[in-house]
This record gives sequence, C-alpha cells and structure tokens, in this order.
Amino acid sequence: MSTPSSAQFPIRRMRRLRRTAALRRLVQETHVVPAQLVWPLFVCHGEGVRREVPALPGVYQTSLDELVKDAERAHRLGLGGVMLFGLPAAKDATGSEAYDEQGIVQQAARAVKRAVPDLLVVGDVCLCEYTDHGHCGVIQDGEVENDATVYLLGKVAVTQARAGVDLVAPSDMMDGRVAGIRKALDAAGLSRVPIMSYAAKTASAFYGPFREAAGSTPQFGDRQSYQMQGTNADEAMKEIRLDADEGADILLVKPALPCLDLIRRAKAEFGSPLAAYQVSGEYAMIKAAAQRGMLDETRAMWETLYAIRRAGADIILTYFAPAVAELL
Ligand code: PBG
Repeated sequence: MSTPSSAQFPIRRMRRLRRTAALRRLVQETHVVPAQLVWPLFVCHGEGVRREVPALPGVYQTSLDELVKDAERAHRLGLGGVMLFGLPAAKDATGSEAYDEQGIVQQAARAVKRAVPDLLVVGDVCLCEYTDHGHCGVIQDGEVENDATVYLLGKVAVTQARAGVDLVAPSDMMDGRVAGIRKALDAAGLSRVPIMSYAAKTASAFYGPFREAAGSTPQFGDRQSYQMQGTNADEAMKEIRLDADEGADILLVKPALPCLDLIRRAKAEFGSPLAAYQVSGEYAMIKAAAQRGMLDETRAMWETLYAIRRAGADIILTYFAPAVAELL
C-alpha cells in the first residue's frame, strides 16, 4: 500500500533537514523576538518593597523605586513593553484608586516614563484590584452593573493616559467598554492613545495565581456573568468583532495555551495586530513542574511560546518575558 507521500521515499527524507543544529536553525519557521513580548508587573505603595508572589516564582510586587529597576531592565533587554497592575492603598465599592490621578498605577506610569521614556508602558484598565468585593465592576442589586462600570473604566483610561501610559488595555469584559473608553479618551484630548482590548477572555482557572498577586479574588460569586465560557469559539469571534468595530487597535485573546484555536481563528479573521496573554496559571504550571524536576523549564517555556506564535499571535504578554529576552 502506498500513500502519495510514502511513495516519495527514499527521494523525500524529512530527516535530512533535522540532522544538525545549523540546518534546523535555517528552516525554523517561527520566531520569538523581545520586541513582541510584554512583561506584566505588579506595583504597590511603599518604598524598597520587592515581595515575591508565592504562587509565581520570579514575579514580584514592587514599590515605585523597585519597579523602575524592572522597567530599566525591560528597556535594556529590548522588550516590547511592560504592563502595569496596581495594588491600591485601600479598596472600596467603586475601586476609586483605579481612576485617581494619584493612584498607584498613575504614579508608576509617571515614574517609569521619567526614568525610561522610550519604554512602552501599558496600563491594565480594570477595577477588580481596587474594589473591596473583588469584581471587575460596580455592584448593583448583587450584580455587576455594566454601564456604570463602563463610565468608570473611561475615567481609569483617561487618568492613566494623562499619567503617560502609551496604551490602555481593558480586561474587564463589560459590553461596550471599548467604545466607552474611546469616547472618554477622545473627549479628554487623548485621541492618540490606542486601546488593546482583551476581546476574548474566558472565565479561566488559570487566573488563580494572578488573583493572589493582585489581591483580586472575588469576595462572592465568580466572574462567569462577564467573562466568556471557554466552550464557545463562535461567540469569541463575535466578541472580537464587536471590540474591533468599537475601535480597538489591538485585539487580545486570553488565556493563551487553552485558546490556541481562538488565536488562530482571530488571526485569520482579523489579522494583525493580535495579542495573546500567557496568564499566571500557565506560567505557574511550568514553574511548579520544573521545581519538582518533572520537566525542563526552559524547554517548556520555549515550546509554549512558539505554540502561541505559531497559532498566530503577534504580541505575547508573558511573565517569562525577561527570561526569554536574556536567552535571545
Ligand atoms: C483583571 C485581570 C485578570 C488577569 C488580567 N487582568 C484576572 C481575572 O480576570 O481574574 C489575569 C492575568 C493572569 O492570570 O496572569 N480583570
């Protein structure tokens, strides 16, 4: 019995191009470059603080002075940018530090921009780190109220952009928030500031360690009334189309490895620029398994990043960003 391809043997020998490292390098189809990587950072109040997040080895909560050191490192390594998550001094019902001109992320953006003006700074636009109930929006009658939340997200984006953030990244999954943020930015004279929208974000178990890092675990219920069901790929494309139509400049899929098909489809339907977020749980899994000697951390890291690139992501948000850049 002969299939068309096996009929070509021994003329066609795929192993010829795998024999040496030089040949393999020559025919490598997918690459990762530092300029495509964004490093998520957690900034807190205080001075001289550098606290490792227990579930995320190598990830720290840092005060402004220490954050600036990481930003300088990111710049030295040629990373695409850093993304700022804030730990507020106090939480309240509406997450008011998120849209305070003196909020921790606003202070951080100013400090980073002063120290390394050329480094791209992305601001996470969400309320969950700042609300006392831990949800991504304001609560009315026990539910997350969409439109009141969108109004506040507009204020978050404007205060961040005024503080010098180059790109705002809403991660809340409220309906109409890209249009709302666009309108707020434009009204504030900030039409130059682009939006990277978490367009398809599923309610994922892989955000677990992040919630420890950001102190943003919901105090009641879960996020399933706003984040997507991971079972629905057509719905994800609809979500992405809405955000694109509302004016999102960069579309993002999250998490990455469990959503490679969504990345592939989004790339085919919407093109570039497409981002993917290799989230905390994806990072923690590799770290934990490596610490127990179950797999080789560096190889597992590369394999997942190449998979995300191969699926079609142009930009990757990952806690591995500095480690990768150092190896390149
Ligand atoms: C906040 C937000 C989350 C992440 C990014 N922005 C957590 C969540 O939705 O619960 C997760 C990132 C990660 O796990 O690394 N809306």
